[in-house]
Amino acid sequence: MIEVKNITKTYMNGDMATHALRGVSFTINDGEFVAIMGPSGSGKSTLMHILGALDTPTSGTYTLDKHDVSKLSDDELAEIRRNRIGFVFQSFNLLPRATVIRNVTLPLIYAGVPEAERLTRAEAALKSASLTPDRYQHMSNQLSGGQIQRVAIARALVNNPSLILADEPTGNLDTQTSEIVLGTFQCLNEEQKRTIVLITHEPDIANHAKRIIRIRDGVIVEDSTNPNRRIINHSENS
Ligand SMILES: Nc1ncnc2c1ncn2[C@@H]1O[C@H](COP(=O)(O)OP(=O)(O)OP(=O)(O)O)[C@@H](O)[C@H]1O
Ligand SMILES: [Mg+2]
Repeated sequence: MIEVKNITKTYMNGDMATHALRGVSFTINDGEFVAIMGPSGSGKSTLMHILGALDTPTSGTYTLDKHDVSKLSDDELAEIRRNRIGFVFQSFNLLPRATVIRNVTLPLIYAGVPEAERLTRAEAALKSASLTPDRYQHMSNQLSGGQIQRVAIARALVNNPSLILADEPTGNLDTQTSEIVLGTFQCLNEEQKRTIVLITHEPDIANHAKRIIRIRDGVIVEDSTNPNRRIINHSENS
């Protein structure tokens, strides 16, 4: 489903070039749960933006569902982002003074889904993300960190994307809340067969994935299945 070949990304600021990615290649098949792990500044978010068709590589090719992403028009890219990919960003990008429900239905408004269906789908997504209904009418600035994260996950799920890209989805969370969020991802992967790419700098978080790709200074230093995978029993999370 995802195939990146020798991707590089160089950011230019005036005369200064930052080589964020220096030749990255891998394939991710449908239904995988992959963690991309590396220290701060190693190029993780840069890679996620490219995988999410939010940015283009400086060189190399990116093929998503047999489409060469570099050859798609802006409209086609927007269409892919809207229908195929769910994003959980490093900064969650929720609207602070809109309700939980409003934040989750917003992508559906853009996609032109009728109002009654928007509500049903938002509630289903919030349920999948383990947020309890008593929070749905709260403003997102009236929620705890873990609840905000779950709203961000629900918003990523609401379009039924086959691919979920999550950038540090458990950053700033205590261990217990992190486990709930990771259990949600495992459940989405196992039960709903969604492909998940989870970006993190923490080994304990990456350890919940089936495969771990390690990146350092813009290159992959290791790519292997995770023999010590930690599995969270989703039914304990409600
Ligand atoms: N828009 C930009 N312009 C210039 N340099 C950038 C830009 N975005 C990122 N960089 C640089 O590219 C490198 C990789 O950044 P990136 O955000 O991909 O790292 P990261 O692995 O996600 O780090 P973190 O764990 O801190 O989020 C860094 O050195 C960063 O300063
Ligand atoms: Mg980052």
